[in-house]
Amino acid sequence: MKKYCVILIVILTLNGCQTNTNNIKSKIDIINTKVDSLLNIMTLDEKIGQMNQYNGFWDVTGPSPKNGDAKYKYDNLKKGLVGSMLNMRGVKDITAVQKIAVEETRLGIPLIIGNDVIHGYKTLSPIPLAEAASWDLKEIENSARIAALEASAAGTNWTFAPMVDISRDARWGRVMEGAGEDPYLGSLIAAARVKGFQGDDLSKHNTIAATAKHFAGYGFSESGRDYNTVDVSKNTLYNVILPPFKATVDAGVRTFMNGFNELDGIPVTGSTFLQRDLLKGEWGFDGFVISDWGSIAEMIPHGYAKDGSHATELAVKAGSDMDMESHLYIKKIKDLIESKKLNTELVDDAVSRILRVKFELGLFEDPYRYLDADREKEVLYHPDNQKGVLEMAKKSIVLLKNKTQLLPLKKENQTIALIGALANDNNSPLGNWRTNSDNNTAITVFEGMKAYSKNKLIYKKGADVNLNNGGVVKFHEKVKINENDKSGFNSAKNAARIADVVVMVLGEDGFQTGEGRSRTEIDLPGVQQELLEEVFKVNKNIVLVLMNGRPLNINWADKNIPSIVEAWQLGSQTGNAVAQVLYGDYNPSGKLPMTFPRSVGQIPIYYNYKNTGRPGPKNEVFWSHYSDEVNIPLYPFGYGLSYTTFEYSNIIIDNKILQKDSSINVSIELKNIGKLKGKEVVQLYIKDRYASVTRPVRELKGFELVELKSGETKTVNFEISESLLKFYSANNIWESEPGFFDIFIGTDSNANLQESFELIK
Ligand code: NOJ
Repeated sequence: MKKYCVILIVILTLNGCQTNTNNIKSKIDIINTKVDSLLNIMTLDEKIGQMNQYNGFWDVTGPSPKNGDAKYKYDNLKKGLVGSMLNMRGVKDITAVQKIAVEETRLGIPLIIGNDVIHGYKTLSPIPLAEAASWDLKEIENSARIAALEASAAGTNWTFAPMVDISRDARWGRVMEGAGEDPYLGSLIAAARVKGFQGDDLSKHNTIAATAKHFAGYGFSESGRDYNTVDVSKNTLYNVILPPFKATVDAGVRTFMNGFNELDGIPVTGSTFLQRDLLKGEWGFDGFVISDWGSIAEMIPHGYAKDGSHATELAVKAGSDMDMESHLYIKKIKDLIESKKLNTELVDDAVSRILRVKFELGLFEDPYRYLDADREKEVLYHPDNQKGVLEMAKKSIVLLKNKTQLLPLKKENQTIALIGALANDNNSPLGNWRTNSDNNTAITVFEGMKAYSKNKLIYKKGADVNLNNGGVVKFHEKVKINENDKSGFNSAKNAARIADVVVMVLGEDGFQTGEGRSRTEIDLPGVQQELLEEVFKVNKNIVLVLMNGRPLNINWADKNIPSIVEAWQLGSQTGNAVAQVLYGDYNPSGKLPMTFPRSVGQIPIYYNYKNTGRPGPKNEVFWSHYSDEVNIPLYPFGYGLSYTTFEYSNIIIDNKILQKDSSINVSIELKNIGKLKGKEVVQLYIKDRYASVTRPVRELKGFELVELKSGETKTVNFEISESLLKFYSANNIWESEPGFFDIFIGTDSNANLQESFELIK
């Protein structure tokens, strides 16, 4: 009880102070004063405790902790030596640990409870890569809002999301967790997600702190192998990797997570340049940085730190404020201070940052504000949340091909053969990041389609999805799967023979992408490709529905299958979303946020590449190309069709000269020349013809979602300001340079309605 009083006195005194000084002190100043007063009465051990985060007592999302850790964690919790816990779920269990922190420790400082709430808590929305395909920032923000509503109701204060790592490598398993390859789209989505999680007021009981991760460069791991070395240029770092991180700071994100990778020879967890100079210095970030799981200790095998003590010293100095699961800060910081290798100011800075976020979340006012069992019961899996994720799911679907207008399907008098293990799988569509949710809770495509029409629906599995690397685990559980069994082929073919249309749902298992799930091949796993070709022999009217967490290699399907739908892993409402799109009650409008290669050998492949000194195509050997494959991808960034057709025309620029600090306008006319109402993502790309450093062949610089009825026309305008043309130049600053620019507007990154202008400064 004594400890409760100490903390209460600090808070009450300052609340009094708040009333008197409201006019002169901003909310931020008041919190800073509270932080300082608390810091003043903390012992060094208590301060170090705030920098220490432990995993909960059962679930792990990284290499398993050693036996006996649980007791050791409890002991430290009681001593006030724990600032945060992750992987604790639900009001009951979190209340138990919060009670210890608040009522049994000297100062009663509340814990901040962190969790990977990546695309939903219980009710799951599509994986983030899929959501990015919607290009619908409002819907993405709403999806994060739903996740925050549920997570906060179940005791979580803080999510380790959004992951804003740009990636150009489909082999990397974590592409499913990001927004794809483009820094412009990625920045807007990053900000939308932060807004969704954090809402307009962090102190509300239904908002949670967000984390921008992994700072920085993790998405560029060599050869797409997770945790591998990263080696990128300053040019790529500033122009491609950093913009989404900066966007989260501008959107008010409260925490950052560093990562496992190195950058320019220095593990990012120990990077002073990234964390202290750039993030906390130049960008003015006043939240805190958490390490990734064990990433402080991993600086030892990286060959950057001699031992745990050295790793701790390097990480603290570099600005890594909280230790996730290296268990080093709690053991080493005190000695390092006593031996003068670290100074207390560094610790005070880290602790102030952590306390500030706790104050902002309102945890000091009421440590139990997130811990209401009735609210938890009411909010989790709420029908409104299901409705919200269904909207998100429909918008995430991308129509890749519809040659013979097989889609939308007719609703009556049809026999439909539905084939593929994934069509009847209620687990895979939940994706990899569903640690807080419940397995087997997705609506399957089979269920969705059955409920949807009067057609005769025959389901056959055909073949399992082969996890095909023998090492894939569901967190720590080995998965056994029927490897290359073709015994289901015949019954699938028999069903296809008598069907008017065959819908085949093929792709990846939900655990085939995500952390630690890199692949060297990105084909349809196992015997699914063979199944597709076999079924095609008996019925060519196939709609291929892809379920996957990364771009796949589907050359054969693209050549042969009339209709292809990219349905990713769409979360809880998968079956309903797919059925509504297949039956045309929702006209798809998604656009790819990542390029689909023709072969794994083209990777890394992305639309905003550099021209090189030897661009092509040319009728000779000496240009930048392959001997055995074309350079262009199968489907470009920004690509996606609709059941209707849009016609672009009449590009008009209002001024061919752009003056510094002003803007010009460019417009096009968009007409829906098809029979159905539909939505189109009109995309604007700009090419900077020459500059002090080489520039991409084009860059996305604007887009607008436009809905048009059949026959309707709309003029779509884009404003081009000088600031839109800024890049990280040879002067090592963000600036635009005078010269000529080309504009392209259209339906994807091959947009070809063209204009040009000159920037004069
Ligand atoms: C490791 C992952 O890299 C990170 O993104 C995640 O937040 C932590 N594990 C905690 O689960």
